[in-house]
Amino acid sequence: MVDLQTQYNNIKSEIDGAIKQVIDSAHFIKGEAVGEFADNLAQYLNVKHVIPCANGTDALQIALMALDLKPSDEIICPDFTFISSAEVIGLLKLHPVLVDVDEHSFVSTLKNIENAITVKTKVIIPVHLFGQAAEMEAIMDLAKKYNLYVIEDTAQALGSDYIFSDSSRKKLGTIGHIGCTSFFPSKNLGCYGDGGALFTDDDELAERIKMITNHGSKQKYYHEIIGINSRLDTLQAAILNVKLKYLDSYISSRQKAAHYYTENLKSIDGLITPQENGYSVHTYHQYTLRIQNGKRDELKEFLNKKDIPAMIYYPVPLHNQEAFKTIARTHSSLEISEKLSKEVLSLPMHTELSLQQQDYIIAAIKEFFD
Ligand SMILES: Cc1ncc(COP(=O)(O)O)c(C=O)c1O
Repeated sequence: MVDLQTQYNNIKSEIDGAIKQVIDSAHFIKGEAVGEFADNLAQYLNVKHVIPCANGTDALQIALMALDLKPSDEIICPDFTFISSAEVIGLLKLHPVLVDVDEHSFVSTLKNIENAITVKTKVIIPVHLFGQAAEMEAIMDLAKKYNLYVIEDTAQALGSDYIFSDSSRKKLGTIGHIGCTSFFPSKNLGCYGDGGALFTDDDELAERIKMITNHGSKQKYYHEIIGINSRLDTLQAAILNVKLKYLDSYISSRQKAAHYYTENLKSIDGLITPQENGYSVHTYHQYTLRIQNGKRDELKEFLNKKDIPAMIYYPVPLHNQEAFKTIARTHSSLEISEKLSKEVLSLPMHTELSLQQQDYIIAAIKEFFD
């Protein structure tokens, strides 16, 4: 699905130099590169605070921990997504309230979010799935109306712009009260292991988030609150510092590849190509088709036999996951999530995808539908 080896080879000397510098300094924990990367990313995103941490799941957990919630509080998150957001809600003994998504953009709809709000609701977690945004402008209005926090899950959409109704733009992850991201290797900005970060413009929240990532401590060996140990390694920060310079060009490569797929696949009957929602810039973390003839699994197998690694993100909606059977709540139908889990198929999507590779994949899909 990705080609991290070729991506590395194209920037090998810069990456090797950055890694060597960290090893020479032996500052493996909290080394200079961590602060440098946080500053560079804050500048790129145009946000006041970037607080690095160990991975995207931790970022979501830390964001919730920073908000001083009580065990019965309800947190709204999409039903059709990766498990992390709902998992950390459960881990903190809060209640995930799962809402259905839009079948074209794959993100939670405003109507479903509003319908799920009760007196116990404290937080909305919009997940910007596959590279494009949930309806942040309207979600922020809703949050204001009901006095809720918004934690953006930007793990799959770092670098995407949100386009407001007055045409102004903001990077995803910087619109809600807290933004979270992951630097998992295949992400828009990926390191060479695990990594994550939180973003906020709020000084008090930033202070609390920093403490939580550091055992609840501001001053060494003095602990004011319960925290965790969640740090971005210096080596990963040094790698990310190099790769951040290439993020915009990586995004352009993904968009170019996505548009080429769409141009060549859109007229196939029974297959729906990804639709851009118009209020955000799609960064195509995933290129996800919907296969409507009931033959999604057959197509996947057909492609896999031709060495094309198509994947299903995600085969089981969260409400059907064993882990959530007893803790998840829902106030409405989750039929679109159910439907999507039977239709979606993601094609290889990465920064080094060549036209020859894409032509091979496109020809195979056309052969299947012929
Ligand atoms: C939407 C979403 N949220 C959160 C995460 C968690 O990130 P990590 O794997 O760094 O913990 C992922 C990772 O795949 C993700 O796709």
